[in-house]
Amino acid sequence: MRVTISEIKEMKQKKEKIPMLTAYDYITAKMVDEADVPLILVGDSLGMVMLGYESTIPVTIDEMLHHTKAVVRGAKKALVVGDMPFMTYHASVSDALYNAAKFIQEGGAQAVKLEGGEIVAEAVKRLTACGIPVMGHIGLTPQSIYQLGGFKVQGKVPERAQRLLKDACILEEAGAFAVVLECTPAPLSKLITQRISIPTIGIGAGPDCDGQVQVISDILGLYTDFVPKHAKRYARLADEMKAAIVDYAAEVKSASFPTMKQSYTMDESIIEELAQST
Ligand code: KIV
Repeated sequence: MRVTISEIKEMKQKKEKIPMLTAYDYITAKMVDEADVPLILVGDSLGMVMLGYESTIPVTIDEMLHHTKAVVRGAKKALVVGDMPFMTYHASVSDALYNAAKFIQEGGAQAVKLEGGEIVAEAVKRLTACGIPVMGHIGLTPQSIYQLGGFKVQGKVPERAQRLLKDACILEEAGAFAVVLECTPAPLSKLITQRISIPTIGIGAGPDCDGQVQVISDILGLYTDFVPKHAKRYARLADEMKAAIVDYAAEVKSASFPTMKQSYTMDESIIEELAQST
């Protein structure tokens, strides 16, 4: 049985911490699912860590859907959240509804995530009213890096802190089932977590959020172009992968791979006969 929105909300009531990870493909989603992580985000971070873009802004809905489908095929139990890319939910509420429906109907996700607070409240209301669960995302919202002036901590000054607290309350009111807090100071994240009844999922938001989300390639040490302060490395897979690739190439060059162990045999008489006939 797949994890439900109610179960995620209940985890907050029961003070059970909620782990969440991103995944972008079938193999990884399967591993995350088998590790009993209840929430998988097909993040638009895909653009940076999988597609090599400099930010999440160029990511298209077709790219997101392609990867969402793969993740859904790999995840049998986790609730899969599809991240709505830049400008697919801002122009109008009907745009937001139309594009969110693609994630659910075509992509097979069970929820969507939108960046922003009050500005997306109407869209959140409409989507949830139409049966599409929504996860909010405030603080450092990477789709607004040009407006924010880069990947910076948000909410350190009183007006911004107040704005974020208000946005979290507005998202709850609008019907969001959870809110990601990205790069918000730990004391502010704690206050928001206490003030709203839906789970807060932190990334660089300190230990007091109800859950934590990380970009899987950061915690596995796969994406090495940039490692954010909030990411802890649990493995160094890029090093291991590079060593394996170097070994493979060296063995091909030295003709020590493949051996007969990796080859197929056939009846010798057939080949002898064939050799004589030509
Ligand atoms: O795209 C993403 O991976 C995200 C997380 C960082 C929350 O939005």
